[in-house]
Amino acid sequence: MPNEGSFEAALRRSDQIQRDLLVHPEDYTMLTGDRPTGRLHLGHYFGTIKERIRLQDLGVSTNVIIADYQVITDRDSTEHIADNVLDMVTDYLACGIDPARTMIFTHSAVPAANQLMLPFLSLVTEAEMSRNPTVKAEQAASGHALTGLLLTYPVHQACDILFCKGNIVPVGRDQLPHIEMASKVARRFNERYGKVFPDVAGLLSSTPLIPGLDGRKMSKSYGNAISIGMSEAETAKLIKRSRTDSERTITFDPEARPGVSALLTTAAICTGRTPEEIAAEIGAGGAGQLKRYVTEAVNGYFAPIRERRRKFEGEPDFVRDVLHEGNRRANEIAERTLDEVREAMGMVY
Ligand code: TRP
Repeated sequence: MPNEGSFEAALRRSDQIQRDLLVHPEDYTMLTGDRPTGRLHLGHYFGTIKERIRLQDLGVSTNVIIADYQVITDRDSTEHIADNVLDMVTDYLACGIDPARTMIFTHSAVPAANQLMLPFLSLVTEAEMSRNPTVKAEQAASGHALTGLLLTYPVHQACDILFCKGNIVPVGRDQLPHIEMASKVARRFNERYGKVFPDVAGLLSSTPLIPGLDGRKMSKSYGNAISIGMSEAETAKLIKRSRTDSERTITFDPEARPGVSALLTTAAICTGRTPEEIAAEIGAGGAGQLKRYVTEAVNGYFAPIRERRRKFEGEPDFVRDVLHEGNRRANEIAERTLDEVREAMGMVY
């Protein structure tokens, strides 16, 4: 985590941009993305996908990268990568990302964007890369030695953002060190070679983080995540299996009652109510009644999204075309930016 001071500063900047966006959406280019390591879940949806759609609908230029090279930052295999990428496009479309307005593409299909990595790496030091707290945490969690890619992926992420001249990046707090890296790279490139790249800022979400069903961070590997593409029955089963506690009366207390409180937060986000209100309503009804309420809230909220998802699952050629068209456009933009970079660096022969 970045220190409190820099977090406060990032938050102020983010709030300022949120206000300006409503007046001048045309001044902003959003770039953000996801690692295709599995299905998208409610944490992704409420944490960032909903925000992307809001920005898209405001008229901001919106770009979403499926970060396939980031999959191998901390794991040894690309198992199921093709299915995961196409599933991710399907989830995006189901949620309301409109491919006519939002460019969807992958790292591996855009060589000119990857090529920015070479000049960018010359602008940062090993010490700067080594002290990135998110990289350190990911390395510790992986149990692997620090690979060259894990060490340098925040610079690669700067390539993602800067090839399309992204100036806003909706992210969670854990990604803020990467945003700082991207803005540092842009600033140093411009100072050294002349202005090519914009200022980059993170857009922090105001939605409270949605926990997994056990109160920990929502993650597929913890088995506590409801994925967007689950059926109603699968959702019901997962919620039913979730652990609560032996106290009958439902109260909202995330510290002492993580399971019950995670269920309340989930229901609150899906219904627009507060967790306290829902807790008071259920009261002595107990965990059984709470779980039924949460199941209905989640299934109700996601019904139209899941219906669209099933429709797109039946149109795999369309889903693939969306990605191919996104890749084609991304290449055009990346080639243009790389030309500007060559020119700024005097590498035109
Ligand atoms: N690192 C992000 C994640 O793990 C995914 C990502 C890749 C990204 N490139 C990006 C996010 C560029 C924002 C901007 O979720």
